Amino acid sequence: MAVLEILTYPDERLKQEATPVGAIDDEVRTFIADLEETMDAGPGGVGIAAPQVGRFQRIVIVDCSKTRKPVPNHGRLFLINPEITQWDGMVVGREGCMSVPDYTGNVIRAEAVTLKALDLDGNEQEYHCEGFEARAIQHEMDHLDGMLFLDRLVSRRNDLFKRKVYQKK
Ligand code: NI
Repeated sequence: MAVLEILTYPDERLKQEATPVGAIDDEVRTFIADLEETMDAGPGGVGIAAPQVGRFQRIVIVDCSKTRKPVPNHGRLFLINPEITQWDGMVVGREGCMSVPDYTGNVIRAEAVTLKALDLDGNEQEYHCEGFEARAIQHEMDHLDGMLFLDRLVSRRNDLFKRKVYQKK
């Protein structure tokens, strides 16, 4: 396994759209293990998307089980070719990103989402996620379409905040 290099803003590759995964073979599973190790090595990351390490396939990992304040969550989610099928409500919340290490920002997201995705065995699963987990999933899925939270700020002047020190886990 390996910790992979994270692309950071303003790297143009972060704007690239990712393509669906075809066969989930050993090569893909090895990549996902490396992606997982990279997420776990990062500071306080609750998710990671394949494009953040320069692989433009529709793969994200989200894990909201270790947040400081406990939130409803599904544990560690491996989402391959995820698609949101329903959005409910809207809420503003603060987001950070390993690809934007120096800033956090306030972003409007759906309060709850229903999604389907393939798991590591290639089986289709459906999840209903709310609150912080729903936010993390929407954030990570944006990476698959070449979007960063910076692209969703209503106002850079009012909604973007400089970090002093990246919060340690
Ligand atoms: Ni991110």
